[in-house]
Amino acid sequence: MTQTRNAQTRNAQTRETTPLSELSPQDLRARAAEALTRARARSEALTDAVDDEDLVRQHSKLMSPLVWDLAHIGSQEELWLVRDVGGRAALRADIDEIYDAFQHARADRPGLPLLGPEETRKYVREVRVKTFEVLEKVPLEGRRLTEDAFAFGMVTQHEQQHDETMLATHQLRRGEPVLHAPAPPGNRSPRLPAEVFVPGGAFTMGTSAEPWALDNERPAHETFVDAFFLDTTPVTCGAYVEFLDSGGYDEPRWWSERGWAYRTEHDITAPRFWERAANGWWRTRFGVFEKVPAAEPVVHVSFHEAEAYAAWAGRRLPTEPEWEKAARFDPASGRSRRFPWGDEEPTPEHANLGQRHLRPAEAGAYPAGASPLGVHQLIGDVWEWTSSGLEGYPGFSSFPYREYSEVFFGGDYKILRGGSFGTDSAAVRATFRNWDHPIRRQIFSGFRCARDARPGEVS
Ligand code: AVJ
Ligand code: FE
Repeated sequence: MTQTRNAQTRNAQTRETTPLSELSPQDLRARAAEALTRARARSEALTDAVDDEDLVRQHSKLMSPLVWDLAHIGSQEELWLVRDVGGRAALRADIDEIYDAFQHARADRPGLPLLGPEETRKYVREVRVKTFEVLEKVPLEGRRLTEDAFAFGMVTQHEQQHDETMLATHQLRRGEPVLHAPAPPGNRSPRLPAEVFVPGGAFTMGTSAEPWALDNERPAHETFVDAFFLDTTPVTCGAYVEFLDSGGYDEPRWWSERGWAYRTEHDITAPRFWERAANGWWRTRFGVFEKVPAAEPVVHVSFHEAEAYAAWAGRRLPTEPEWEKAARFDPASGRSRRFPWGDEEPTPEHANLGQRHLRPAEAGAYPAGASPLGVHQLIGDVWEWTSSGLEGYPGFSSFPYREYSEVFFGGDYKILRGGSFGTDSAAVRATFRNWDHPIRRQIFSGFRCARDARPGEVS
């Protein structure tokens, strides 16, 4: 009995850590099932935390009602896994249009004839039953969509992405706290240098090998980066307060023209959810009013604010290739890693991911997650703004649908990298690319700064 349980535990652990491409079809199915089940547990936790009235309410014009996200999760799963991969009949063809994100802007979604909370829960449960039937039977080869169980990975990531969006809705919601989690670890890296040198030269950006990587992360390609310096950790609230308290929000010279227009028009005077009190800066975090913690990475800033801070600090934001080189490049082997710490999947020692904590961890909290060059907390804690827009890599081709990413290429977006405390490990890698409008800050967005290496500094 004990032996059987040990064997099962060992199997599950092996399955979690073995690269997807090396799993037997049986283990691949089990891995996909585990990933889907974990995503669903999170979706349920986020939607069961509030009552029905709260589920159908729009907490912000920027967000959908939570009940829309939940049904949309089910609808995408039905479309891809039940109908396309499974070749099964539609469960609810009548609701496709309501839950098509391209048909209705977030602001208009409360006015749609949405399924109610109970109907939505029933719908996503029924879809999931069919999904598991399909997962058990469909051949995991012969078709690109099912190779390495890609479609199941894609749908898992989609659910986790919406779970993070729902977490952002929770942050916008007013009222008593309903989500709870233990505090993250504190700083465990005494005396970190402020910045790290990243050597110039080519490195491999993007991936062709990662089975569940999405289309915009592909293909792997050589990219050249000049030598530069990157902050060892994301910019902390303490550092950001210096910018604020020295009048940075009132000095147009630190802001781009667009940034200043945005700051003025919307009367932006501090990160979102912050307010000034007699004894310093305070913030509201998932319903808790608390003093802004100096050692934690700043979160809920727009690209424009990040850019203004960097200018004030005499620095700049990193480009997307710079960020990825700092995160992946191993100077000893010349290889690019899957994660800063290596090729192994994230554990709680590596990074603050998966809503395990409801806040970023202090700078220096994850020494085991540092990159070979010594850059910390690239994965987890806060999404990091880069100065790059969203474009396809050389050789890009959309798969399996243009609407995931290609339709946004060349738009008014900036790339964010690395995931936040609210990003699940299934939904982020060192190659993962997120994007948003430069004015957005309801997301879990922070940043770190970079600077060019001066001629004498290039070793
Ligand atoms: C990749 C995070 C920008 O939420 O808009 C969800 C992910 N795409 N459903 C988003 C996504 C379709 C997307 N981001
Ligand atoms: Fe979606």
